[in-house]
Amino acid sequence: MSLTGKRVLLIVSGGIAAFKALELIRLLRKAGCGVTCVLTKGGAQFVTPLSLQALSEHKVYTDLFSLTDESEMGHIQLSRSADLVVVAPASADILAKMAAGLADDLASTVLLATDKPVLVAPAMNVRMWGHAATKANMAMLSSRGIHVVGPDEGAMACNEFGPGRLSEPPAILAAIEALLCAPKPLAGKHALVTSGPTHEPIDPVRYIANRSSGKQGHAIAAALAALGARVTLVSGPASVPDPAGVKIVRIETAAEMLAACQAALPADIAVFAAAVADWRVASAAHQKMKKTPGGAPPALELTPNPDILATIAAAGPARPGLVVGFAAETHDLIAHAQDKRRRKNADWIVANDVSPATGIMGGSENEILLITAEGEEPWPRLAKDEVATRLAARIAEALA
Ligand code: C5P
Repeated sequence: MSLTGKRVLLIVSGGIAAFKALELIRLLRKAGCGVTCVLTKGGAQFVTPLSLQALSEHKVYTDLFSLTDESEMGHIQLSRSADLVVVAPASADILAKMAAGLADDLASTVLLATDKPVLVAPAMNVRMWGHAATKANMAMLSSRGIHVVGPDEGAMACNEFGPGRLSEPPAILAAIEALLCAPKPLAGKHALVTSGPTHEPIDPVRYIANRSSGKQGHAIAAALAALGARVTLVSGPASVPDPAGVKIVRIETAAEMLAACQAALPADIAVFAAAVADWRVASAAHQKMKKTPGGAPPALELTPNPDILATIAAAGPARPGLVVGFAAETHDLIAHAQDKRRRKNADWIVANDVSPATGIMGGSENEILLITAEGEEPWPRLAKDEVATRLAARIAEALA
């Protein structure tokens, strides 16, 4: 991996961690990467344009309305000559501006005008990071494909402890390298991924659910995006954070998941990792069901849910080129998974043993067998992230 000849536009916003931007510039320059800096008013309270200029060996831009800057380069031109825009540190304020699309200074205007990939390295007080507003802003930015590194957890300048510390410069450099140097074999491909459980209502307050966390499906979505795919992740109520760089469509029921998947087509790749409820209540009550003293419990009549994988994988012009299903079994793994591959018209099945003793369901590791038309391929026990990376690489290989 080499950053030689690449160019980064580095936006330094306000925060005590702004001094770490100097080390980041040094590392980037050492790696052969050109750096141009934009310093916000807040950032200039912590580092000087002169230090940024000395290290980057480049003019530093600070003022949107400088006539010279505008005629020399302009806020549009500024990111045109960059391969990547990096915001480090990214304050809660600049993240909020990005989420809202504000453009009231040079940095926010560049961020609104750029068509280049953007990486943010958030840094702020632990409670600001945990605030619902920041969480909503980060979710919005992720859904638009903004890449995120950090923040780290640790002791903070404000004498508090928790997540909010700016990632260390070597980690930011590694994230920049991953974005600028990694091969993108899935560029131009659209991948549809389902993840998480579904919730099937019994009445307005009760539902039928399952223990799926969404960990594996979300990791697959992130791994496909890392290889350059445009990813639509259709997710039930998962208990893991949104992956960066993918479009998320949130649904609750199997019927909504099917509609969202159909709306997302066409796709080149479809991976069905969701734990879809097999049945729903035939006619969910519109009002909360009341228990009456001494009354009999209600009998719930169940009706089958649509099989999303089988519906999308059915032969036809809208069928994605490569369809991957999952089979979670507790016995006769291979026979059940092979049967599922044929019955549902999937190309591949990722089969795993989810007997309680394996600790796989809801855990952070997975041990799978990849079932293809050629046969079964056992994989070693790996972290779910690694299973995702390996599966994405296999998908890229198959589509090459
Ligand atoms: O039949 P079973 O639930 O074991 O099949 C598992 C595979 O089928 C998984 O890929 C799952 O995401 C998918 N599936 C689906 N819609 C359903 C049930 C399962 O897409 N209603």
